Amino acid sequence: MIDLEKVAVRYTSSVVGLHPVSLRFHADQMTVLLGQSGAGKSTLLRTINLLTAPTEGEVIAEDIGPLSTPAAIRAHRCRTAMIFQQHQLIGRLTALQNVMVGRVGMSPSWRTLFPSPRRDRLFALECLDRVGLADRALERTSNLSGGQQQRVGIARALAQEPRLILADEPVASLDPGTSHRVLTHLKDIVREDGIPAIVSLHQLDLARTFADRIVALADGRIVFDGAPDDLTAEHLSRIYGSADSAAAKPPTPKRAASNQERAAASASTETPVLEILD
Ligand SMILES: Nc1ncnc2c1ncn2[C@@H]1O[C@H](COP(=O)(O)OP(=O)(O)OP(=O)(O)O)[C@@H](O)[C@H]1O
Ligand SMILES: [Mg+2]
Repeated sequence: MIDLEKVAVRYTSSVVGLHPVSLRFHADQMTVLLGQSGAGKSTLLRTINLLTAPTEGEVIAEDIGPLSTPAAIRAHRCRTAMIFQQHQLIGRLTALQNVMVGRVGMSPSWRTLFPSPRRDRLFALECLDRVGLADRALERTSNLSGGQQQRVGIARALAQEPRLILADEPVASLDPGTSHRVLTHLKDIVREDGIPAIVSLHQLDLARTFADRIVALADGRIVFDGAPDDLTAEHLSRIYGSADSAAAKPPTPKRAASNQERAAASASTETPVLEILD
């Protein structure tokens, strides 16, 4: 659980990213942030992780308290996984090595000088298996499709054993089918591990399908907070500025990942698990 108490972000005297908001995010819930470009979704997400410091109010994390000291912020970040639109993977490393990166912050720094222990590699492999990619563990990440790379990003987040997942437009560059698949994995994790996920999306249909709760923003203010079924046309016009719900349509995918997924899948080679771990 994480609480925002009257949190506001003022970037400059004239630019307000977020007007004071108070929100509580619960375990087991996938919250989707909706809103037009510039509404404040990324600002809110970044504030939850203190990547953007609130200019008013405070963020309070369960078992840590107010995130007001460097030690509290460090402890919170350590157990908060962030997933980005550009998955920020290292292309020349294998999928497994990228997932191992998620565990680096969990070991004492001297440990990173030595080969990773077998149990860490096994855990990383389990994380890849949860997103259906165990058989691609030794593939160079740059050879994977966009959807597969995003799933490696989720596996890396899982390897961190997070207590909170923040995802900023994790499916913005993926086609609808691949987006569905990536969000299904994320939702399964929320359910199975009982951790809250806060995910910004542009696609209303995906928000309706996957969200337990929708928080919608317009001009840095919350204009809706509730269950997807309670979102009415009137709310949508407040979120998207006019009755023109075209704004709520998904943006054109930057590229179709499904063909790549198929091509990559056909090139897939089965790798024995023991070989991966040795
Ligand atoms: N670092 C910054 N410095 C100044 N202003 C900023 C900064 N980051 C965001 N803003 C402003 O704050 C407002 C909210 O931006 P934010 O990035 O949170 O919107 P968003 O909902 O994530 O938009 P998008 O859907 O385009 O990603 C915008 O007016 C934006 O220009
Ligand atoms: Mg954004």
